[in-house]
Amino acid sequence: MSRPKVLVVDDETGVLSACARALRRVEADIVTSDSPMRGLEMTHADEFAVIVSDQRMPEMSGAQFLEQISHTSPDTVRVILTGYADINLAMDAINRAGVSRYLTKPWNDDDLRCVVTQGLEQFALVRENRRLQELTRQQNEELLQLNATLEQRVEERTADINRLNTDLRNSLLGSIRVLAELTEMHSKVIGSHGQRVAGICRRLAALLNISGGDLVQLEIAAILHDIGKIGIPAEIARKRDAALTAQERAVMELHPARGDGIVRMVPNLAMAATLVRHHHERLDGRGYPDRLVGDQIPLGSRIIAVASAYDNILNSREHFENVTPAQALHVVEQLAPGRFDPVVMEALQRYVSTEADSIQQGAEIEIRLRDLRVGMMLSRELRTSRGVLLLPKNCVMNAEHLSRVKAFQQSEPIVDRAYVFRPAVNNAQP
Ligand SMILES: [Fe+2]
Repeated sequence: MSRPKVLVVDDETGVLSACARALRRVEADIVTSDSPMRGLEMTHADEFAVIVSDQRMPEMSGAQFLEQISHTSPDTVRVILTGYADINLAMDAINRAGVSRYLTKPWNDDDLRCVVTQGLEQFALVRENRRLQELTRQQNEELLQLNATLEQRVEERTADINRLNTDLRNSLLGSIRVLAELTEMHSKVIGSHGQRVAGICRRLAALLNISGGDLVQLEIAAILHDIGKIGIPAEIARKRDAALTAQERAVMELHPARGDGIVRMVPNLAMAATLVRHHHERLDGRGYPDRLVGDQIPLGSRIIAVASAYDNILNSREHFENVTPAQALHVVEQLAPGRFDPVVMEALQRYVSTEADSIQQGAEIEIRLRDLRVGMMLSRELRTSRGVLLLPKNCVMNAEHLSRVKAFQQSEPIVDRAYVFRPAVNNAQP
């Protein structure tokens, strides 16, 4: 590190020599000038830690000279030498120049050395302080940049995770769609029953405060609950329960466990698989396949059991002709003791009295979303599989509605059904 510099300015060369001599042992390079103008020029080329200036000089006063220095080199420690008689006259100017010390002529060499040495220390401290401030500022800036980078990285990672989650969800929905399509290809009756039961389960779940992941698993299980019937001979599957032989009944009763096996093969559907397995259990333990009792039966399975029984009675035209929702509820109530959960039954009663009661059979038809056309009027609300209202009841479909439904099918295609009013005969298109 280079040594600090001290400048002494006085128009008398004798004074300059005496000062330089006095400061010989100070740890600094001592430079002198007999002119304040030249002194100013020297400060442009070099930085001085301390400047000692005489007050009374012909070109300009020491106070004026040091005042200029205070603008160009504010850190330089400024010392003035003044005759004792001049001190009061010069005080204002000295204060304006920001002089830190003054010495009276004739000076004591030890005082001069002491003042200059203290000035050097003060300069070094100011410089060190400034260096540390600058370092802190730089570090703060780096920290800010680091924080900004970190936030950006976190955002990027979050976006990656969201993308992966969407991919995962889409592949899950894709698997469910494949299973639902397979079920429908095998049997239109089982397929459409599953879709309707899912719709009823969604309403019952809302009344029972079930939401989030539990609701999704319940809906999936409801759609696929009878998938295990694939492979059962059609003549057995078509028979009424009471008409089955013991052997045929044994075959039919395999379907919940078979369904469990099929659904469980899809990753992340273990809960739905369990719900499928237990949808024929009874509260009194006389159900199948595991003869579970009461609360041992998962709530989702208890809901599917009730919804499935209600839909079978309401929509199975082979067995029940022109049944209204209230009549279907009545039949389910007759079946309920020992079989169905009273809490779920209460939800079904509320559902039928508030919603299904207004749905007159024959006044509406159930269609696939892809069969919706401009001009059709919805007889029920159209909601996404998460329960978000897509279109209200009584909405007359237009081109914009159709494109919204199409977009919805891409993202949440679980429930692939809509209900529209059957057109009156005299209004039918030719
Ligand atoms: Fe079943």
